[in-house]
Amino acid sequence: MIEFHDVSKTYPNGTEALKHVNLSVKKGEFVFIVGSSGAGKSTFLKLIMCEETPNSGEIIVNGRKLSTVKKRDVPYLRRTMGMVFQDFRLISHMTVYDNVAFAMHVVGASTRDIRKRVPYILSLVGLQKKMDAYPKQLSGGEQQRVGLARALVNNPTMIIADEPTGNIDPALSFEIVDLLSEINRRGTTILMVTHEHRLVKHFHRRVIEIHGGQVVADTAMVMGGVR
Ligand SMILES: Nc1ncnc2c1ncn2[C@@H]1O[C@H](COP(=O)(O)OP(=O)(O)O)[C@@H](O)[C@H]1O
Ligand SMILES: [Mg+2]
Repeated sequence: MIEFHDVSKTYPNGTEALKHVNLSVKKGEFVFIVGSSGAGKSTFLKLIMCEETPNSGEIIVNGRKLSTVKKRDVPYLRRTMGMVFQDFRLISHMTVYDNVAFAMHVVGASTRDIRKRVPYILSLVGLQKKMDAYPKQLSGGEQQRVGLARALVNNPTMIIADEPTGNIDPALSFEIVDLLSEINRRGTTILMVTHEHRLVKHFHRRVIEIHGGQVVADTAMVMGGVR
């Protein structure tokens, strides 16, 4: 599903954000990406999302070499990815329902499909009773569940989440990862950057550690609480 072959990324100012990264993530995996601030985690995700391009190496996503994807085709590729951000990025003057409906509207979904799908996705994240609320009337955890609903609504093959629990109450972080786990059980691949060791310890998933732009550890998911 995702392959990195000797991928390096140097920003125009000379910062080497990723150096010779090789890895692959299979369909249906749930991967935590950890590492200190500035390690290159966000750069790794941005390369997958075609927000940045590598200086060398090849990235393959859903069987496509990203180096061959034309600029005008990038939006289509992104539709296969649901993105979740640390700062939620909800539209403040829109209700919960409209925030999620808007994501379907922009990809050209019919009103009929939107009316059917949005309530379903909101119930999946436990927000069916908050459809008419505005983002500022919700807790951080609830806002991020709207973010998740929006990421899921166009049925992506993968969810890419960059520190999705970074701005919410630690107790509610588990809730978000529980939801991601449930989504993963239904077949969606999950890539999640996190700083929270508690989460990584608790959920026993594959962990890729990036340090100084390199993958320094890649451990398969551990069953039975060894980690
Ligand atoms: N647009 C950019 N221009 C220049 N340097 C950048 C840019 N984005 C990130 N960097 C640098 O690249 C390195 C990796 O950044 P990043 O991938 O954001 O790390 P992380 O997400 O692990 O904190 C850091 O040194 C950061 O300052
Ligand atoms: Mg980052």
